[in-house]
Order: sequence, then structure tokens, then C-alpha cells
Amino acid sequence: MMLSKPDPVLTNSPVSAIEAVRAGSPFVIFNGDCATLLAEMASGCVDLFVTSPPYFMGKSYDWSYRVEDFYKDVRAIAPNASRIVRVGGNMAWQVGYHVTDSNLLPLDFAIHDVFRADTSINLRNRIIWQFGHGTHAKRRFSGRHEMILWYGKGKNSYFDLDSVRVPQKYPGKKHYKGPRKGEYSGNPNGKNPSDVWDIPNVKAKHVEKTAHPCQFPIALAQRLVRALSPTGGLVFDPFNGSGTSGIAACLENRQFLGADTSIDFCEIAMERYRQLQARTLPYRPIDRPILQPSGREAVAKTPPHFAFQEQD
Ligand SMILES: C[S@@+](CC[C@H](N)C(=O)[O-])C[C@H]1O[C@@H](n2cnc3c(N)ncnc32)[C@H](O)[C@@H]1O
Repeated sequence: MMLSKPDPVLTNSPVSAIEAVRAGSPFVIFNGDCATLLAEMASGCVDLFVTSPPYFMGKSYDWSYRVEDFYKDVRAIAPNASRIVRVGGNMAWQVGYHVTDSNLLPLDFAIHDVFRADTSINLRNRIIWQFGHGTHAKRRFSGRHEMILWYGKGKNSYFDLDSVRVPQKYPGKKHYKGPRKGEYSGNPNGKNPSDVWDIPNVKAKHVEKTAHPCQFPIALAQRLVRALSPTGGLVFDPFNGSGTSGIAACLENRQFLGADTSIDFCEIAMERYRQLQARTLPYRPIDRPILQPSGREAVAKTPPHFAFQEQD
């Protein structure tokens, strides 16, 4: 007899959300303030805490434009955020910059300011996420990267490097002398993807774009889920938005719990989950290479009146 998969759950009760996770629902969304949910969650119940919090940069969901309020919100949830991660589990914060006319504050500095006093966790990587598109600055270089801080709980937090290897630059390269002469010099399963990740961001024409104003791409969350949580583990995103972390978790056969104050965003997340089940969800596969223009496209040719191209 085929057992049917438990249903996804959307609820505004933190207790019902936690019960739904315990009952095995693969995708649970709490519509409300994540601080309320975090306070109810058991210590050590989460394998991977992964999130991108509001940057307080004037989006519809930001209640302030002040970076001091960013600190205030992160400080308020920090003790419960690290408490709910199991020893051996992981926490990943994806953030960019708080920008004003005259100043930039890298928000990972702010996150680390809050968490560095927490001796139960260790900073394992500061990952740079670079991407090709964004607004064009006139008074500074255009911003084309954001950051991810990966913290492990305890000394040896979960890390599955083999699950996220990428193709070697020269897969056929061999040792040409010494005891290993003739053997391939690189790992045949691919190389470590390093702490600089090139993944397209979700702009207007990206296949994953929803009505949410600030999604991160599924491939970014998927790499974190693969490397930093075991199959069947619980992935938690307190600022769930359009449900990207949850979709990545489901693609990788992990269970998911998320929270968002906006019912509209919660419904987008539920709809994306339904589309994933129906195999109709559009998404960019994690292993698709970044498009490089061949030079033959009309738009890749330099128009003759662009004078600066003639210099060497
Ligand atoms: C940067 S977005 C996250 C986007 C998400 N990573 C995605 O790919 O769609 C931050 C989200 O946090 C939500 N939010 C803001 N304050 C919240 C709170 N106190 N509790 C839960 N969610 C909150 C906002 O509604 C917004 O959707």
C-alpha cells in the first residue's frame, strides 16, 4: 500500500506549527512574528537555521529605515536562534549592505557583532555571493555581491562537501612526475566550490521571480541545505518570504518550518510548494553554468561608434 505524503500546513498558531512538524508535515509555515515561534521551539530541534532577514532599506515589510533597528531585531531573537539549533547543526545568515547616501554598513558585521559573544557557535565561513546584475551606481562601484555567515554549533558541525562539489577547471589534468605520476591530480568528483559563489540573483526576468520584492535564488539556499544539513533533517527559516529556503529543503528531502508576518508572502510560499509537488515550479537548476556570451549574438557586438574599444 502506498502511504500518501502528509499535507503542508499554513497556520497562525505557533503551537500548531510545531505540532505539524512533529507529525511529519514536510512544509510548515507560521504566519506571524518569528520571535513568537522561536520562543515556543524546543532547544536543539533544528538541523539548519538559514535565513535572510529584512535589511531595513525601505521595503514594504520594513518597519524602520534605521540600522540601529536591524541590530535591535537581531539581538532580540539571537539567544533563541542559537538555542534551537542542535549541537552539530548549523546557522547561515544571508545579508547585504545597509546603504545611505554617504555610508555603507556591511550587515554581516552587524550580525557578527551580535553573535560573536555566543560561545556555543563558531563562525566557519564568510561566503561572498556574487552576481551579475543590479542597480548601476554613479557615485561608487555598483554593488554585485552580498554575504553569508555560516556558524556551526559546537566544534564539529555537519558539513557534506561531496554533495556540493563543482566541476574541476581541468578535469583531465594529471601528475606529471613523482609517486603519483599519471594519476589525476584533482578530485574526480569535482572541486570545493570555495567561499565565493557565483549564482544569478532573482531580478525581474529570473525564472523564479514572484511578487516578493527580495527573494534569494533557490540554488543558493539549496547549496546551503545540501552541505549543512542531513537528509531528513529540519531546516528552519524565520524570515521565510516567498519560501525559497523551504523549496530548497523539499528539493533535498529535508523537512521545513518557516515564519513570515505577511500572509501574502506565506501564500506565495504555499503556492510554490504546491507547484513543486505538481512538477510545475519554475526554477534554475543548481548545476546550470552561468551564461557566457559567445560573441556571435547581435547584442554582444560593439557598435562602431563606441570609440573607447579601439584602445589597447
Ligand atoms: C529579505 S525577506 C526574505 C526573503 C526570502 N529569503 C525569499 O527568498 O523569499 C525578509 C522577510 O521577513 C519577513 N519579516 C519581517 N519581519 C518579520 C518577523 N518579525 N517575523 C517573521 N517574518 C518577518 C518579511 O515579510 C519578508 O518577507
